[in-house]
Amino acid sequence: RALRWRPIQPERPAGDSKYDVLCKEEFIELKDIFSVKLKRRYSVKQQGSGTLLGITLFICLKKEQNKLKDSTLDLINLSEDHCDVWFKQFKKILAGFANRPKSLKIILNPQSHKKEATQVYYEKVEPLLRTAGIKTDVTITEYEGHALSLLKECELQEFDGCCILSVLFSSVVCVGGDGSASEIAHALLLRAQKNAGKETDRILTPVRAELPLGLIPAGSTNVLAHSLHGIPHVVTATLHIIMGHIQPVDVCTFSTTDKFLRFGFSAMFGFGGRTLALAEKHRWMSPNQRRDFAIIKALAKLKPEDCEISFLPFISSQDLQERKVEGSPKSGDKDQWQTIQGQILNVSIMAIPCLCSVAPRGLAPNTRLNNGSMALIIARNTSRPEFIKHLKRYASVKNQFNFPFVETYTVEEVKVRPRTNSAPNLEEDAGRHAAASENNFPWNVDGDLVEVASEVHVKLHPRLINLYGGSMEEM
Ligand SMILES: *[C@@H]1O[C@H](CO)[C@@H](O)[C@H](O)[C@H]1NC(C)=O
Ligand SMILES: *[C@@H]1O[C@H](CO)[C@@H](O)[C@H](O)[C@H]1NC(C)=O
Ligand SMILES: *[C@@H]1O[C@H](CO)[C@@H](O)[C@H](O)[C@H]1NC(C)=O
Repeated sequence: RALRWRPIQPERPAGDSKYDVLCKEEFIELKDIFSVKLKRRYSVKQQGSGTLLGITLFICLKKEQNKLKDSTLDLINLSEDHCDVWFKQFKKILAGFANRPKSLKIILNPQSHKKEATQVYYEKVEPLLRTAGIKTDVTITEYEGHALSLLKECELQEFDGCCILSVLFSSVVCVGGDGSASEIAHALLLRAQKNAGKETDRILTPVRAELPLGLIPAGSTNVLAHSLHGIPHVVTATLHIIMGHIQPVDVCTFSTTDKFLRFGFSAMFGFGGRTLALAEKHRWMSPNQRRDFAIIKALAKLKPEDCEISFLPFISSQDLQERKVEGSPKSGDKDQWQTIQGQILNVSIMAIPCLCSVAPRGLAPNTRLNNGSMALIIARNTSRPEFIKHLKRYASVKNQFNFPFVETYTVEEVKVRPRTNSAPNLEEDAGRHAAASENNFPWNVDGDLVEVASEVHVKLHPRLINLYGGSMEEM
């Protein structure tokens, strides 16, 4: 389980062992090792394999604030025989970590954040994967939706043909921001439906994704990766993948009354949706610029939405148990929908905490990645200054929900239905298409703009996909 050693510091460079000083014992846990190599010195004159110096272990260190860092440990020994024994033994131990991926399908969005994703991958991620002996197959996406069509078509399991078990452990890695990450998660889940022979027009009980997904934060927003790793840090994300730190994560389905829309982890309606819609109209600005611009513009035009929100409160299995004991006639009854109506400014529906730079504790700090529930946060109509005060509170550790116009619920399902008071104008048949798009309501689903005219039904599905990341307990 662990490797212990005492470093020897020779008193003199000549190395008369009588004078060697034994230092304090040090140790590492074997589970923190991710690669072993023979260390050799090569010289120009020498042909062949060079002079053996010993073995090098590559280890993953835990640093402050959820950060992981790679490091090396050199064990010096000039004997080919000794090194060979140790090398083989470490190889055997490493092969025993079954969760660690052996080959990865990398999907890289070159357009992410100032087009830096390619550089991030080849400078920081790829060298670590190579050291870990992980095979990679990189696709650089060429258009929005490319990842989706790629994953729908190709036979992913072919990426790992080296041993039978590893078929189960090959994974997909996204290098990009929230848009790419969410598209790939959606694609993997759609694929699982199809492979199970289920329809994808309406999805009631989705099938779990077959392959785990790794997220390398390289976008202008990295809420998903930040929530998974506790920090938007490329090396940390890479090491979680290499070390095989897999965790199951809750996912939502978004549907209208008659059609499945997509899978996602978080959504905003009202102010959060309108801000994104405004930003999308100004794509020529840099991502940060257009986000700030859109927030200011949306605040200037701040207007509540008349809507009806129904939700199914989350009942933990413990609560259910207690109800049964009390013998209430409705024990075990899941049909406990509640409804809220009125003028509403902003709604957040979040299955994960949604950590980001403006909200270090998360936009939904009371949610976990996989505790089977999601946060429904509703900001009712209020004055502009009060609403701004609420938004600003996300940046602090103070309770951002401590306002009379903000309500929070822990839920399993939500239906949001805007109530358009303008009656449909039947005479304007020709202009109907234009009118329809005007009556669409913008939703922000994981940073993607989704426009829907009617009711949207959001349902939580516990532990639907495996993602690489640190466990919340440790954080
Ligand atoms: C409202 O919108 C902003 C962003 O536009 C978002 O950050 C915030 O979490 C949203 N939710 C609530 C309930 O205010
Ligand atoms: C999920 O975590 C939050 C915060 O700890 C809590 O309010 C909620 O009840 C939890 N749900 C479950 C199922 O534990
Ligand atoms: C929303 O609240 C503001 C400030 O209190 C008020 O002026 C406005 O009329 C309200 N809007 C609606 C539609 O109720």
